[in-house]
Amino acid sequence: MTNGPALVLGIESSCDETAAALVTSERRILAQKIASQDDVHAPYGGVVPEFAARAHAERLAPLIEAVLDEAEIEIRDVDAVAATAGPGLIGGVMVGLVTGKALATASGKPLIAINHLEGHALSPRLADPTLQFPYALLLVSGGHCQILRVEGVGRYQRLATTIDDALGEAFDKTAKILGLGYPGGPAVERLAQQGDPRGVPLPRPLVGKREPHFSFAGLKSAVLRAHESGNYAPADLAASFQQAAIDCVLDRMQRSLETMDEVTALVVAGGVAANTRVRTELEQCAASRGLRFVAPPLKLCTDNAAMIAWAGIERFAKGEASPLDVPARPRWPLDPGAEPVRGAGAKA
Ligand code: KG4
Ligand code: ZN
Repeated sequence: MTNGPALVLGIESSCDETAAALVTSERRILAQKIASQDDVHAPYGGVVPEFAARAHAERLAPLIEAVLDEAEIEIRDVDAVAATAGPGLIGGVMVGLVTGKALATASGKPLIAINHLEGHALSPRLADPTLQFPYALLLVSGGHCQILRVEGVGRYQRLATTIDDALGEAFDKTAKILGLGYPGGPAVERLAQQGDPRGVPLPRPLVGKREPHFSFAGLKSAVLRAHESGNYAPADLAASFQQAAIDCVLDRMQRSLETMDEVTALVVAGGVAANTRVRTELEQCAASRGLRFVAPPLKLCTDNAAMIAWAGIERFAKGEASPLDVPARPRWPLDPGAEPVRGAGAKA
């Protein structure tokens, strides 16, 4: 370990963003680049895993070179290489992890295998140096929808998960129903601004239930039926869907907070945390309970490599490194001890 601030190269390739970043332990992002694959997947209305892996393989090496160039850093100057090792689409994860292993081996620096969900979970600490453990985290992305008590690096208690779709997935499916294209979340949010959030009667699955889990499949089906009825304007459908989804999130969050003691803040992370309405309503929820609200800046919410580098820094600071034969993992729950939830399917 060097004296002075640590410098970590982060690599992310678990879904449809290829990303690389250089971050210091002083929370400076020296450079970060993201190559989105929206162009590759848009014609299919969703991510095609094989095309994703191919695009990562083509784009990652030049992206890492560009990040090093921009920061005027040689690979031998980094203190560690942090790469996402799961959960995610296995072909893409392998591209990033194998590249990380190669760079770590070539430069003689430690490899730190990062759980992508831990990247999201710790990203608010990159943005906010005052955020202390433990905090209540709503992690909402395209593949995951969980409420966690973040107790420390590597220490997560999962209180809730989804029994069917993730919140971002519900936004994406609604976008598909409304013909808004891919990726759906930002498109639904834009259209919702012109609609009436009470214009379409939609269900709020699981609201009021004792267990704080989520379910969005029934809401999506209701959106489909309402759309097919021809009785509603797309903007009202988008706004009503968004409101119903947020009502579910707030109810489930409130329920979780009732059983979560000693948290310092309510924190939101993951792609859906980029949604302004989600942020505003969660902020009000936090205020009503006397909690601080923390949300990372938008560029740290959706998939990026700065959050992976930061998780690497948090682990490097604890003296951790991964063996070079660390495997890529399609599934990798943050809280392996969490009770399986009926119907939870493949969601880790
Ligand atoms: O964290 P992320 O980039 O990738 C995963 O790990 O899944 O999250 C992507 C998800 C997508 O489902 C996308 O539609 C959603 O986040 N998303 C949003 C917004 N921006 C991204 N959902 C609602 N409103 C947004 N503004
Ligand atoms: Zn993600």
